[in-house]
Amino acid sequence: MPTNRDIYFKLLNEDHKYLNKNVIISLLADANGYDDRMVLYANFDKEVRDFEHLLVNVDLVKKGMPYQYVIGHTYFLGNKIIVNKDVLIPRQETEQLTVDTIVYLKKAFGNGGAPVIADVCTGSGAIACAIEQEMPNAKIYATDISLYALKIAKKNVNKVETLCGNLLQPLIDKKVKLDVLICNPPYIENIKNIDKQVWDYEPHLALIASPATKCYEEIFKDAHKVMKEHYLMAFEIEEDMEKPLIELMNKYLVGCTYRFHKDIYDKTRFLYIIK
Ligand SMILES: C[S@@+](CC[C@H](N)C(=O)[O-])C[C@H]1O[C@@H](n2cnc3c(N)ncnc32)[C@H](O)[C@@H]1O
Repeated sequence: MPTNRDIYFKLLNEDHKYLNKNVIISLLADANGYDDRMVLYANFDKEVRDFEHLLVNVDLVKKGMPYQYVIGHTYFLGNKIIVNKDVLIPRQETEQLTVDTIVYLKKAFGNGGAPVIADVCTGSGAIACAIEQEMPNAKIYATDISLYALKIAKKNVNKVETLCGNLLQPLIDKKVKLDVLICNPPYIENIKNIDKQVWDYEPHLALIASPATKCYEEIFKDAHKVMKEHYLMAFEIEEDMEKPLIELMNKYLVGCTYRFHKDIYDKTRFLYIIK
């Protein structure tokens, strides 16, 4: 049987577009049953524990399936997050949105504070999971319109309460009052902008909105029904959305202040609304 090192260099030398270093290491760690890639490095010269499994998975990745779906998990802010075809694979920019929100939460409520928070459009529950770890006394709701997504989210969180329904409706029905709302809704209007691999494998419900601002508008319109008097709403947005979003905030959220933030690639990707 080949060693991990043999396979690593063999696959790397193939120079396949879907098999970069990170993907190969993830596939090898999975085939050996290691959660921590440091354990893989320590056993790099040992035989691959389940070589057949590895071959099947390499084949799926070469055919285009995102490696996170192939191995059934990814990492989000250091937490292992279970994923399958029913949930979007959490992205790096969403980590930035989540960290900024956690920084706000800690400043506003302290480490032991007990704010009421909702992760709307939770998908895999990655955001709710990260917040739960950092704010153990918070009451956290995670909502999604997809029952299939919520089934996965439930596996990734502990005390978070999951609710199914359209945007804020399940929170309105429950008469919840929030200190903080965080949301990464679907926001792609032009499907031509979607990468083929993403389009072929990730849930379209998680991607498409028409118009692009649809979910934001509905949330802004209903915000007064679920938010406390003072609050933060944190959103991931698409580039070039500032103008229509400002118009919507002026229409529905009079008296609030807002800030757009850029991501590490200098693109405006986040909106924070404070009241
Ligand atoms: C872009 S994904 C975000 C998933 C996750 N929060 C993340 O950041 O990785 C959007 C999610 O919104 C859900 N969704 C789409 N339309 C919705 C709606 N009208 N109400 C509630 N959830 C919706 C989808 O099922 C999907 O899980």
